[in-house]
Amino acid sequence: MSAESTTVVILGVTGDLAQRKLVPALFNLYSMGRLPEGLRIVGFARSDHTDASFRELMWNGAREFGELTINRTDWDRFASRLSYFRGDLSKTEELVALQRRLEQTNGTSGLGKILFYLSVAPQLYEPAIKSIGEAGLARQDQGWRRVVIEKPFGVDLRSAGALDDAVHAVFDEDQVYRIDHYLGKETVQNILVFRFGNSIFEPLWNRNYVDNVQITVAEKVGVGDRASYYDRSGVVRDMVQNHLLQLLTMVAMEPPNAMDAENLRNKKVEVLRAIRRWAPGDVGKHAVLGQYEGYLDEKGVDPGSTTPTYAAVRLLVDNWRWQGVPFYLRTGKTMPQKVTEVAIQFREPPHMMFSQEPYRPLESNILSLRIQPDEGVHLKFGAKVPGQGMQMQPVDMEFHYDSAFQGRQLPEAYERLLRDALEGDASLFIRSDQIEEAWRIADALVEASEGSNGTAIHRYDKGTWGPEAADRLLADEGRSWIEATMH
Ligand code: BG6
Repeated sequence: MSAESTTVVILGVTGDLAQRKLVPALFNLYSMGRLPEGLRIVGFARSDHTDASFRELMWNGAREFGELTINRTDWDRFASRLSYFRGDLSKTEELVALQRRLEQTNGTSGLGKILFYLSVAPQLYEPAIKSIGEAGLARQDQGWRRVVIEKPFGVDLRSAGALDDAVHAVFDEDQVYRIDHYLGKETVQNILVFRFGNSIFEPLWNRNYVDNVQITVAEKVGVGDRASYYDRSGVVRDMVQNHLLQLLTMVAMEPPNAMDAENLRNKKVEVLRAIRRWAPGDVGKHAVLGQYEGYLDEKGVDPGSTTPTYAAVRLLVDNWRWQGVPFYLRTGKTMPQKVTEVAIQFREPPHMMFSQEPYRPLESNILSLRIQPDEGVHLKFGAKVPGQGMQMQPVDMEFHYDSAFQGRQLPEAYERLLRDALEGDASLFIRSDQIEEAWRIADALVEASEGSNGTAIHRYDKGTWGPEAADRLLADEGRSWIEATMH
């Protein structure tokens, strides 16, 4: 093994994330030959395991959750790269012991390159980073050192700032990869290709042509068995502060000069900075929060909980391109279907020349970027109904990934992100200033959801699109939610 060797150290490897996502993603990358030569994966956790029992645990996890059909021979070849280290990450000496183990494995050539993945409960981020620092494992004197930090990064602006201070006491910002798995989704990256890789859409992508933008991230599932995390977190911290705001930045950002991490992230942070702040006490005019009926009976939920499981928000982006164009964001649990979609509703044509019998109002063009499932793009426009007269009817022009790219499976978000982190490409990771701007926006909502400024938490039935108040949020401005395009 040389100084060029690379090791991924997954802290908290016995948890759900590692078993469901990280190890299956690494397996897939390995199978496609996309991992650095000789990469080793060291699982670090507190439970007792031998290398063999650890590999078996990961095998079972990958088969159960990984949506993979894995052949045992391929797995065994991959698993020979997996090893286990039992340790407590809050104890520096245990990280020192890990360091020794890595040195032994690597022989005389030292530690090589190390990617630490914090797949642990958020309250353990700080202790883990501190121990890594004290053990000298962040020093880049024998190959690079990087750290991947999962969401949630902090629970509000203040705590995110404090966590950043702790991170920066050990790692430089360019060693830090804050993950938002939505950015690893193929169709989220396609937003940029769609906008900036074509010449016909971008001229329309502004206040002169766009009436409003709607971003829906609906989930069919409820809180499931995650109440211990979710009931303290709620939808604003779990989804809005990260996934929804990231989608918004992709839709609203200016074209970067180049697709490198700094340019891209500069443009994204500009959008977050341009989002109008709400006056204290005004949150209720711009946001609707809800909780599904039956949430209080879920296992592990506090029976008096006011944690919201649904949020609808109207945001305005105060810049030249978007002045006056509302961005409506909504997300919730127990919705009728799982769907993530960005819909751009264009302005109505200025004049109706075709008389409609019976009278029908003009329907505006809608461009829907379907993030998941049935990934694709739809454009709704009016067409002449065959026959006499000039009757119009909306029709749909569609692009579906599965038919257009037959045989090409969309990669899992974690595959893309893990590979990028290993290659040192931080474009799809969140920089500290982005996190802080996002918290500045989310903090007001969090305060509202925690009842300190009297914003109501509306009830909604499972299997519906959320509380009626969310419809009123748009109806008051003469608009309505656009139904997801299902085909
Ligand atoms: C996670 C949230 O970040 O994203 C979950 O913590 C949510 O509550 C999940 O279910 C949704 O991700 P996806 O990729 O299934 O849309």
